[in-house]
Amino acid sequence: MRAVFLVGFMGAGKTSVGRTLAGRLNWSFQDLDDRIVEREGRSVASIFQESGERAFREAEHAALRDVLENLGRGAGQVVALGGGAFAEKRNTRLLRDAAIATVFLDAPAEELWLRCSRQERESGTERPLLKRMNQFRKLYQSRRESYLEAAVTVQTGGREVEEIASDIAETLALKKANRRAEGETE
Ligand code: S3P
Repeated sequence: MRAVFLVGFMGAGKTSVGRTLAGRLNWSFQDLDDRIVEREGRSVASIFQESGERAFREAEHAALRDVLENLGRGAGQVVALGGGAFAEKRNTRLLRDAAIATVFLDAPAEELWLRCSRQERESGTERPLLKRMNQFRKLYQSRRESYLEAAVTVQTGGREVEEIASDIAETLALKKANRRAEGETE
C-alpha cells in the first residue's frame, strides 16, 4: 500500500505540504475534511454548529474508514487529516492496523496560531476550534503526545512548504531503504 498520512495541529501545513508532496511523488492528494464535507453535504463549521463536535468526530471517523477502504485501488496517495483526527484512539488504531506511514508536522503553538489567524483573514478559513490563543495552546499541548505517535516528526517552524515536502520524501525513502536493508519484504 503506497500512502502517507499527514497529521498535526491546525495550521501545521498538512494540506499545503500534502499537495506539494503528492505532486513530487506523482501521487494523488486528499484532505479528510473535504471528504467529510462531501459525505455530509455541509461545511465543517456547520457540522460543529448544528450537530456539535461529537457528531463531527463520528463523521471524521467514518470518512477515515472510507478513505482507508479505498486506498488499495489506484496509485499512491497523500492524505491530510484534520487536527483532531490523530488525537482519537480509534483513528490511530485504524491507521496502525493498516500499517500506514504517518508524518507529524509540528511547529511552536505561537506560529500555528499566527498561520491560522492569517488564513482566516486572507481566505476566510473557518475553524470552529480557533478561538483564543490560550485555549488553542492548551489544546495543542494536550494533543501533542498523540501526534508524537506518528512514525516520523518533521519540524515546520519558519520553513517553506517545498522544503518540508522534500524533507518528508527523503525521510520516507530512507526509512524504506533501511527496512529493505534489514530484509523486510514489501
Ligand atoms: C480540527 C481541525 C480542523 C477540522 C476541524 C477540527 C481540530 O482541520 O478538522 O475544524 O479538532 O483540530 P485542520 O487541522 O485542517 O484545520
